[in-house]
Amino acid sequence: MKKISTHILKAMKDNNDKFAVVTTYDYAFSKIVSNANIEVSLVGDSLGNVFQGRSTTIPVTIEEMAYHMNAVSRGNENSLLVCDMPFMSYSTVKDTLQNAAILMQAGAQMIKVEGGEWLAESVYKLSQCGIPVCGHVGLTPQSVNKLGGNKVQGKDKSDAEKMVKDALILQDAGADLLVVECVPSRLGADLTSALSIPVIGIGAGPDTDGQVLVSYDMLGLSDRLPKFAKNFLNETNSVQEAITLFGNEVRNGLFPGPDNCFK
Ligand code: KIV
Repeated sequence: MKKISTHILKAMKDNNDKFAVVTTYDYAFSKIVSNANIEVSLVGDSLGNVFQGRSTTIPVTIEEMAYHMNAVSRGNENSLLVCDMPFMSYSTVKDTLQNAAILMQAGAQMIKVEGGEWLAESVYKLSQCGIPVCGHVGLTPQSVNKLGGNKVQGKDKSDAEKMVKDALILQDAGADLLVVECVPSRLGADLTSALSIPVIGIGAGPDTDGQVLVSYDMLGLSDRLPKFAKNFLNETNSVQEAITLFGNEVRNGLFPGPDNCFK
């Protein structure tokens, strides 16, 4: 597989080709994901949940993200490497630039930030500094205390309209990708058609350009399988086969199925 870049993902969107994203936290998984031809390897702060056993992503630090990013970068050959900026590491423009530099120097090729309009200036500055950005809207786990739990977002018309507006602002500020988490399938489809940058869904229906899953969920290693996930190891004989199957099912439009989506 050709080394994936933001330009390749954009061309895939323009060509209506779907792509797959898997979270990685270490060297061994990174190699498996890269060898399975998964387009994007995301060092997610979900490592706080599945790797550290915490109940939220809030305790995860920039040092921990850089540590995992470094390990993942050594195992990767083909995938685009995206790294989450952890809780409160991007609350000011100055902090954003300093902390993004730490993650880029640890091997990230793009950083991901959770939020909408308030991030516009930071996204613009990152972009000007040559740092690609992935936005994240919908259910933003770092804001779980403000959101009142891990709930489906954008169910009301006004919330849905605000989310599309936020996403367009992030795109205009220079974002290259967008993750949308836990929204009704209709809103996942609306965001995907409203934006020219690729949109990656998790619990956002079948119509987004890409699909992301937490690796531990898709291998049945998490405490609980979320509705939007599927255990691909149930249908395969190895981790490598399970991750390859996920990629194939996403590209062929077989995953997510109706049971994995929200109305
Ligand atoms: O932290 C993470 O793994 C994520 C994905 C669920 C999108 O942000």
